Amino acid sequence: MIGLVTGASQGLGLELVRMGLEKGYQMVAGFLDIPDEDKKLKELKKQYQEQLFMIAMDVTDEEAVNRASQKFKEHFDHLDFIVNNAGVLLESKYDAYDPIKELDIGMFRNTLEVNTVGPAIVLKAFIPYIYAAQGPCIINISSEAGHLGPGGYAYMAYSVSKHAINMYSQKIRNYLAETPGKEHIRLYMVHPGRMQTLMGKENAQISPKESAEGIYKIIEKTMNPMLEVPFINYKGEQMPY
Ligand SMILES: NC(=O)c1ccc[n+]([C@@H]2O[C@H](COP(=O)([O-])OP(=O)(O)OC[C@H]3O[C@@H](n4cnc5c(N)ncnc54)[C@H](OP(=O)(O)O)[C@@H]3O)[C@@H](O)[C@H]2O)c1
Repeated sequence: MIGLVTGASQGLGLELVRMGLEKGYQMVAGFLDIPDEDKKLKELKKQYQEQLFMIAMDVTDEEAVNRASQKFKEHFDHLDFIVNNAGVLLESKYDAYDPIKELDIGMFRNTLEVNTVGPAIVLKAFIPYIYAAQGPCIINISSEAGHLGPGGYAYMAYSVSKHAINMYSQKIRNYLAETPGKEHIRLYMVHPGRMQTLMGKENAQISPKESAEGIYKIIEKTMNPMLEVPFINYKGEQMPY
């Protein structure tokens, strides 16, 4: 299998790449920025060499993503799975701001750019290779924060971005399901759990490894029971909208 993971330089993205390589898959790792020689993705490259293809890809930069897609095309003719994993959480749970008057519009915009628009840019650029695969799977990493919960206003921008990625995903799912010849393409929005990563360290409950194991079960169709609902967590359990 050939898989693309965005935001692969740390956290869940790095773990998905590492696990895919261990499984013998050809992995394509999209990274934002790897300034230091000793970054973990580079260590994996040394170990796995040709099995790991690294592409610079700021998911908010359509031209950069299109260039990455062209590079991909020089080496591969199809793509079995995409994990749209790159994400940002630019607020802290300790921020007690007035979400109307004190809203940082730049922060709000950046959050939506990365978490919501980014996956759409990546899917648009890589869809020809998904169409060329036998039983492809698209995973858009969402969050429990994206559901229209009962109360609270913490992580406002992040929650909006994750709710929006769910709606985007649902529309694309509908399009695929209703378009002859595309019905076989699976798409899930997945809450990966509260992970011990740079982003999740404040509330962590699980390791990114545990989450990645679950996500591969979804991709490989080995999750049992495999729920036929679009918004699930890394265990395959239905998430509330
Ligand atoms: N951690 C949690 O508890 C949790 C819970 C629910 C959902 N999630 C979601 O799970 C996904 C992975 O989160 P994580 O915990 O692994 O976060 P993380 O450790 O902060 O890693 C996020 C990754 O996204 C990359 N990234 C950020 N902006 C990017 C851009 N514009 N283009 C390309 N890559 C970009 C980062 O690159 P750099 O390393 O260069 O900064 C990093 O590799 C995210 O979508 C997140 O929203 C996480």
